[in-house]
Amino acid sequence: MSYNLLKGKRGIIFGALDANSIAWKTAERVHEEGGQFVLTNAPIAMRMGQINELAEKTGSQIIPADATSEEDLQNLVEKSMEILGGKLDFVLHSIGMSINVRKGRAYTDQKYDWTQKGTDVSAMSFHKVMQSLYKADAMNEWGSIVALTYMAAQRVFPDYNDMADNKAYLESIARSFGYFFGRDKKVRVNTISQSPTPTTAGQGVKGFDGFIAYAEKMSPLGNATAIDCANYTVTLFSDLTKRVTLQNLYNDGGFSNMGVSDAVMDHFISE
Ligand SMILES: NC(=O)c1ccc[n+]([C@@H]2O[C@H](COP(=O)([O-])OP(=O)(O)OC[C@H]3O[C@@H](n4cnc5c(N)ncnc54)[C@H](O)[C@@H]3O)[C@@H](O)[C@H]2O)c1
Repeated sequence: MSYNLLKGKRGIIFGALDANSIAWKTAERVHEEGGQFVLTNAPIAMRMGQINELAEKTGSQIIPADATSEEDLQNLVEKSMEILGGKLDFVLHSIGMSINVRKGRAYTDQKYDWTQKGTDVSAMSFHKVMQSLYKADAMNEWGSIVALTYMAAQRVFPDYNDMADNKAYLESIARSFGYFFGRDKKVRVNTISQSPTPTTAGQGVKGFDGFIAYAEKMSPLGNATAIDCANYTVTLFSDLTKRVTLQNLYNDGGFSNMGVSDAVMDHFISE
């Protein structure tokens, strides 16, 4: 169902790899709501992914950009404004990667050049994206910037590994840059803290199946899906949330405020 919430709005969507990606679902929903956008991903991901299909479906152009490269980001911002015919109203940062996670290195046995690469891709890239937008004065007033995060930034989830630290850093950047973006450009910056979701990045986390099943049983509304996240993001891009900023917003079926649920207790009660 479409509400035309993003009619006339323009933006950039990072991170659509395949049809499971949260960014992919968001692009589809933004398109349905009347928004126009440029799709971007790392050049290597484009070769593996199916982003052309999404571009065709949503009438979008694709500009490759490694989100760790300032040069790529400056080019992306400039070209996006040319293609879309003006300044931007929304940006989605939907990027995450840890080599330690991918290669099965324990949190207590990190290879630090991998850690650094993961931090650059997963967190500092958000600063780089915003700095590129800010310096180019590329955002319209009352625009909205959203990045995706996970609750391991606040609580311990051992197998989330160094991504927990990257997400804490990401959320802090949202607040710190959000101050300047709000004060100087009237742009809001928020993070959405999403339930475990079966995507390429999500399934890379050790024990993901157990993890997602546990979260489902703990959450009174069940896990938020990628489509739920896309819908929430649409509201944050719309004019209905104009003064929501510097927030970390949970889209998790209630998980983050739970202690224990009946469904989980049932596993531990012997009759
Ligand atoms: N899946 C989950 O359980 C879950 C839960 C909470 C938050 N998140 C977050 O949601 C976001 C999107 O992940 P997803 O679950 O849709 O997985 P995904 O694997 O579909 O998306 C991750 C994206 O990051 C991109 N990327 C990696 N390195 C990059 C680089 N150098 N430059 C540009 N792009 C790069 C990948 O190409 C990919 O498109 C991530 O920030 C992730 O941490 C995911």
